[in-house]
Amino acid sequence: MAGVNFQSVSKVFGKDVKAVDDLNLEIKDGEFMVLVGPSGCGKTTALRMIAGLEESTNGDLFIGDKRVNDVPPKDRDIAMVFQNYALYPHMSVYENIAFGLRLRELKGTFWQLTHMAEAKVKKEEIDKRVREVASMLAIESLLHRKPKELSGGQRQRVALGRAIARKPRVFLMDEPLSNLDAKLRIQTRAELIRLHRNLGVTTIYVTHDQVEAMTMGQRIAVMANGVLQQCDEPETVYNSPANKFVASFIGAPPMNFLDGVVRGERVEIGSMSLGLPAASPVRKNEGLRVTIGIRPEDIYDSRTASSVPVTPDNSFEGQVDVLEKLGAEDTVYMVAQGHNLTASIDPSARIHSGETVKFAVDIEKMHVFDGETGLAIR
Ligand SMILES: Nc1ncnc2c1ncn2[C@@H]1O[C@H](COP(=O)(O)OP(=O)(O)OP(=O)(O)O)[C@@H](O)[C@H]1O
Ligand SMILES: [Mg+2]
Repeated sequence: MAGVNFQSVSKVFGKDVKAVDDLNLEIKDGEFMVLVGPSGCGKTTALRMIAGLEESTNGDLFIGDKRVNDVPPKDRDIAMVFQNYALYPHMSVYENIAFGLRLRELKGTFWQLTHMAEAKVKKEEIDKRVREVASMLAIESLLHRKPKELSGGQRQRVALGRAIARKPRVFLMDEPLSNLDAKLRIQTRAELIRLHRNLGVTTIYVTHDQVEAMTMGQRIAVMANGVLQQCDEPETVYNSPANKFVASFIGAPPMNFLDGVVRGERVEIGSMSLGLPAASPVRKNEGLRVTIGIRPEDIYDSRTASSVPVTPDNSFEGQVDVLEKLGAEDTVYMVAQGHNLTASIDPSARIHSGETVKFAVDIEKMHVFDGETGLAIR
């Protein structure tokens, strides 16, 4: 096992496509790290550099203590599940999964010939491992099939199986669950977390899905346009996003943003006015332009809110435009003094579309960003 360390690593394609821009990121030995960000932000490129499939333009990349910039892929002891995974079409599912294991054994062919009995044990070990992995991914009944006889989701599980059958120093996974249906995705997500807990192999997992990132990562690294925005534990990224981009990317429905100006201990947002968090350093920064961030889950129906007091500092009237009933909560799209806001409300509030409701915000959970740079001010 080994950690992975990016030191000022960049990758430029052609003249000016900066796929990864001066990335500094240390993935600890045994850690489950998620790289998350929108399409095109450089996630796959970062993974491919670890695998050695892409040469970095600048910087140093370490696996364990070793600088690997010049180490060929086959010598890096890494297993990768690609975004566009490829299975061997002429091989059965069983053979596809066993392939990586056999490849490792091949080195010892001569040794095997001279130690037939032990070679048999190896074969049995491979068989055991293939069946273990197949059972974990619920593909036992497909072991004899060829890839073309499988659905997209089944193929994806075989590709995953092929990677996890081995026990490499590092697992790289590029959106390995994207072709699975919702139920299977949640199930496989849990399997991967369990697998990591059992094997403890350093895993770098790429996704554009913030829910996957939040639920799977011990730490998550949020990227945008090739640049690392923040890397921390999921709770920290959610509770203390470094900037507006991270704040909008992590959390669903996304955070509400309101542009305003500081007036004393309040922020004036057009005709609306809210108190600022007690500890906010922008208080009394008269005239400072800020962007206020309010998560939908921090807005309450004042009629049923028990966890926040309703005061003139934290409440406003909103007209409910659209109401989405999700079962466990209602998503309320409202217009409040000309601003469009989204709130996640307890269904017991029994909100109806069209009605005007007094809402209350948990002011202490409000986020304040610099109006110009978008950086969090706290
Ligand atoms: N071989 C290449 N040649 C030129 N540009 C490339 C190449 N590979 C990737 N890029 C560009 O580099 C940027 C990052 O691409 P990358 O594949 O790393 O994104 P990603 O975060 O994995 O996106 P997605 O979520 O869509 O898979 C994109 O702008 C992409 O167009
Ligand atoms: Mg990608």
